[in-house]
Amino acid sequence: MHVLQNGPLESLEQWDDHVKGRYRADRKKEEFRVYDDSTPPVVKEFYRQNHALQTYEFASGKLAEYVPLHKATMGIWEAMDRLNELVDDSDPDTDLSQIEHNLQTAEAIRAAGHPRWFQLTGFIHDLGKVLTMWGEPQWAVVGDTFPTGCAWSDRIVFSEFFAANPDKAKAEMQTQCGVYEAGAGLGQLKMSWGHDEYLYHVTKDYLPEEAQYMVRYHSWYSAHRERDYEYLMTDHDKEMMEWVRTFNPFDLYSKSDAKPQLSELRPYYNDLINEFFPEKLAW
Ligand SMILES: [Fe+2]
Ligand SMILES: [Fe+2]
Repeated sequence: MHVLQNGPLESLEQWDDHVKGRYRADRKKEEFRVYDDSTPPVVKEFYRQNHALQTYEFASGKLAEYVPLHKATMGIWEAMDRLNELVDDSDPDTDLSQIEHNLQTAEAIRAAGHPRWFQLTGFIHDLGKVLTMWGEPQWAVVGDTFPTGCAWSDRIVFSEFFAANPDKAKAEMQTQCGVYEAGAGLGQLKMSWGHDEYLYHVTKDYLPEEAQYMVRYHSWYSAHRERDYEYLMTDHDKEMMEWVRTFNPFDLYSKSDAKPQLSELRPYYNDLINEFFPEKLAW
């Protein structure tokens, strides 16, 4: 089943793989811009759409649409199963399923000796991709995230594509802080809409604050990786972003390890889920 024909990518995984390649552990700093030429045309087209269409108005509209959380009532396992059905139809031999990616991320966090809430965060971090269930196009589910309503960092991948974004013509959104105050705090920002922001709202009442930052900002590479946008953060945000940095390598670099066996690990993660989450959550 391939529900995701509403975008140029062959699968949502293709964006994750692109990011992984961009931040390859052995990549040298000066190679950073070189990936542009080697980027598959479908990935480039994906970014062209994402950057042209993620406006302040779009992000605000999606928040208003989803954040009442009245789309569904589902437990974590059900969401995991739905996600697997929705997005995993390509290259079954080589690609990990969404469950396997979540499980690998969590297992790597567990192996490093991090606490249970951190392991759980690894296990659920991509569940927001169930947005595809409600017909969201790829560019509103995955992709590097960024704040809307203010000038775009030139450290966002393919930032030249923002030239086609209607907010480009709005002078009040083109200053460094745009519609926000300097140091306003990350909670004030309308982040580009996608699986990070969505899952944050679904899970925030059940997770420690460090985990909330990991979920909400894990695709904001221009901030956690390139260290831009600090002018919008409070000192507390800056501290919390360190947790996002701690999380990121587990997301990016755990993929090449051996495939985890869900059947063996299910009881462990079941306990973990039950420790933090109710049986059903509002989505
Ligand atoms: Fe993600
Ligand atoms: Fe991930």
